[in-house]
Amino acid sequence: MSIEIRPYRPDDRAAVYDICIRTADAGQDARDQYRDPDVLPEIFAGPYAHLEPDLAFVLADDDRAVGYVLGTADTARFVARFRDEWLPLVSARYPARDGAPTTPDEIMVHLLHTPERMLVPELADYPAHLHIDLLPDYQRAGHGRRLVETFVAVLRRKGVRALHVGMVTANRPARPFYDRLGFHVIDVPDPGPLTYLGLTV
Ligand SMILES: CC(C)(COP(=O)(O)OP(=O)(O)OC[C@H]1O[C@@H](n2cnc3c(N)ncnc32)[C@H](O)[C@@H]1OP(=O)(O)O)[C@@H](O)C(=O)NCCC(=O)NCCS
Repeated sequence: MSIEIRPYRPDDRAAVYDICIRTADAGQDARDQYRDPDVLPEIFAGPYAHLEPDLAFVLADDDRAVGYVLGTADTARFVARFRDEWLPLVSARYPARDGAPTTPDEIMVHLLHTPERMLVPELADYPAHLHIDLLPDYQRAGHGRRLVETFVAVLRRKGVRALHVGMVTANRPARPFYDRLGFHVIDVPDPGPLTYLGLTV
């Protein structure tokens, strides 16, 4: 079987979660930084696959997921559904805590419980957003471009004409990728560790 892009299936979950944590430290492996390696994919992968299955695609090698693009066509609606539908599924395992988070796991639990952080006024004209990650052996071979094109084709069918990405600014190799695909910087005051990039499609 060859390498192909296909829709996400529920049995891809473990592979997708693994890809997410292996690429989570500004594009590098973050497995040694978290006590619970699932806490991060429960924010940045699981809810998209669960809530937005028609925008979930994997790059598969012999049917095994080795990369993915996940996202939403409507960030505001996604945030509401994240709170109402996703958090109830994961809150028992990752309860909200009082006090300022200190450890990497606590910081992720805080992000999990604050989906409204995704509602950035300057991004209102770019209602869709995506996350894309490939295992190292599959990078720089054109698959990332094809995954974004696949995602964008669905957006167009839905009549959505603009999307954004919140890229960790420290992820220097990712920036030329988005530049080559035509993304531009969206000026956001106090963007924290992120650079926001937008694309009109
Ligand atoms: C970033 C990432 C998604 C890019 O996907 P990819 O498959 O490696 O990129 P592609 O091979 O499709 O590259 C598309 C274009 O970007 C360019 N490009 C990609 N990475 C580049 C880099 N590090 N430096 C310079 N150009 C780069 C390619 O040369 C190509 O240009 P062309 O099509 O005009 O010839 C992938 O490398 C990845 O998953 N990295 C680790 C996780 C990550 O950082 N995810 C993004 C989080 S915001």
